Amino acid sequence: MAGLSKHLALVTGGSRGIGRSIALSLARAGARVAVNYLANEKAAEQVVAEINHLGSQAVAVRGDVSQKEEVAEMVEQIHRILGAIDILVNNAGIGDPYYQDVVSVKEELWDKIQAVNLKGTFLVCQSVLPDMLSKKWGRIVNISSTSGITGGTSGVHYAAAKGGVIAFSKALAQELAPAGITVNVVAPSKIDTDLFHLVTPPGKEEEVIKKIPVGRLGTPQDVAEAVLFFAREEASFVTGQTLVVSGGY
Ligand SMILES: NC(=O)c1ccc[n+]([C@@H]2O[C@H](COP(=O)([O-])OP(=O)(O)OC[C@H]3O[C@@H](n4cnc5c(N)ncnc54)[C@H](OP(=O)(O)O)[C@@H]3O)[C@@H](O)[C@H]2O)c1
Repeated sequence: MAGLSKHLALVTGGSRGIGRSIALSLARAGARVAVNYLANEKAAEQVVAEINHLGSQAVAVRGDVSQKEEVAEMVEQIHRILGAIDILVNNAGIGDPYYQDVVSVKEELWDKIQAVNLKGTFLVCQSVLPDMLSKKWGRIVNISSTSGITGGTSGVHYAAAKGGVIAFSKALAQELAPAGITVNVVAPSKIDTDLFHLVTPPGKEEEVIKKIPVGRLGTPQDVAEAVLFFAREEASFVTGQTLVVSGGY
């Protein structure tokens, strides 16, 4: 499938987990891909090598999505090397390794969770949009979580940030529809990644799986398939939507 061969995608947090699968899937669909990372340069370069092996172009770019200057520099660097981004997947995210009740959550951690998950999504959209607006074409897919819909099991800070991503995306979808840019959300749950194991106490995995009707953890590829649907040319009439990928959880 080479349906996205005219396009350049940026996947934030593309070095590991869900972002890595999204980057590879977009490349398999023909897109050139910028793979953003925060600290794991080696892992990001490995994703780039795999994309090159698939016959597509890619670049690894460091940048903390919660820092405006770093985001601007990252987007400028991608522009210089590969051109204008027209598919953006805001996937970079963090959770709290310890479940904490609302009284225990420190203000600093609250701010950090909002900064990476929610403000990061806003900052990267803001930086990438001028090119999409001038092309009158764009696809934005933001990765939220079922916590942003149900409240979830990861605490108020994470739920607030992920719920914010959904509300932000709906407002942005309305704003950008006349410009040919769609904005949609994928809300995963219980996907087998480093983050899942960070927030799931050791030994509790089987208990979690028992609560998933499909009877297994999700894979990063399960999430990537949903992102691909929204990124396709043919999804131009779908905007402001949230697709839950949770095995029925
Ligand atoms: N796994 C799940 O069950 C699950 C469920 C619901 C929602 N999600 C959401 O899905 C997304 C991906 O999660 P995951 O499970 O794949 O996580 P992960 O395995 O922990 O990977 C996180 C990715 O985000 C990058 N990252 C972290 N902070 C960043 C920052 N400030 N700036 C730029 N990049 C940053 C990391 O880069 P480095 O490699 O450089 O550290 C890494 O590539 C997140 O938004 C998460 O909230 C996951």
